[in-house]
Amino acid sequence: MIKESFSIRGVEFKNRVLVASGTFGYGDEVKDLVDVSKLGGICTKSLSWKPRDGNPPRRIVETPSGMLNSIGLANIGVHNFIDEKLPYLRQVDTKVIVNIAASSLQEYCDVLRLLEEQEGIDGYEINVSCPNVKEGGLNFGTDCSMTRRISEQLRALTEKPLIIKLTPNVTHISEFARAVEEAGADAVSVINTVIGMAVDIHKKKPKLSTVTGGLSGPAIKPIALAKVYEVAQAVKIPILGIGGIMTAEDAIEFLLVGATAVQVGTANFINPGTGVDVAEGLRRFAEQHQLADVAQLVGAMESNVEFSILQSWL
Ligand code: FUM
Repeated sequence: MIKESFSIRGVEFKNRVLVASGTFGYGDEVKDLVDVSKLGGICTKSLSWKPRDGNPPRRIVETPSGMLNSIGLANIGVHNFIDEKLPYLRQVDTKVIVNIAASSLQEYCDVLRLLEEQEGIDGYEINVSCPNVKEGGLNFGTDCSMTRRISEQLRALTEKPLIIKLTPNVTHISEFARAVEEAGADAVSVINTVIGMAVDIHKKKPKLSTVTGGLSGPAIKPIALAKVYEVAQAVKIPILGIGGIMTAEDAIEFLLVGATAVQVGTANFINPGTGVDVAEGLRRFAEQHQLADVAQLVGAMESNVEFSILQSWL
């Protein structure tokens, strides 16, 4: 029997494949389509204190091998989440990670404090990396001292796993990973979307209402791999690798460069069962390679470190 599970702060995830925030709703939307008990966990859409309508349309654009979004953190708000979504999530046989986004430090704390009073939440992923809002989002996530402060303050409020979702839209993501590790975070999610844009040449206008948005999907996988690799050189806490994972082979690449586990995101818009397929494929690969534990893949890439450009500034 192959060991597939892993733990963050004592919480055991049955396998190393979670679904990424913003790509799986609050879980209940896909309950007739996906057996979520085969996933390591579900990361909910970001929650704020009050409901948010998000940005005006158009807020999704398909691009070569990718997707641009500018949703603007549309969500039902934490109170409606507790009343309408949490009862379902309490029954699922997988770990529930609630993603929190906010416009101020106070709001992060208020949302997390209220969630702490509820049953059925296994941990938190803190979104400091949404590129599609004017307040919060990248304002926080590109400011290392602010990212550290948010992590410190939230750490003081919970004993549950605290995972910080980092943006790739900075020069050295490893500095941010180090800061949140020092602040007491238990893990980092690497990466959120890459700022991008698309232009309608006939209208001579940007395709997205907000001009720029966040690029995701296979187009960003090489970027995500390099960011996970960079972070893995810098911190000891687990890394949840995200960015264009469509298959088990993609997930294995992330594990080899140092991710402890992965999150499947944009692929869910094509097939919400992708995460389950990736988890099964990962187990099969481990079987074929006679591994006792999927953990044997984590950081197992052999590289010529002396040729690595990254090492020169880490
Ligand atoms: O616009 C959005 O809601 C995207 C959120 C994110 O990338 O974190």
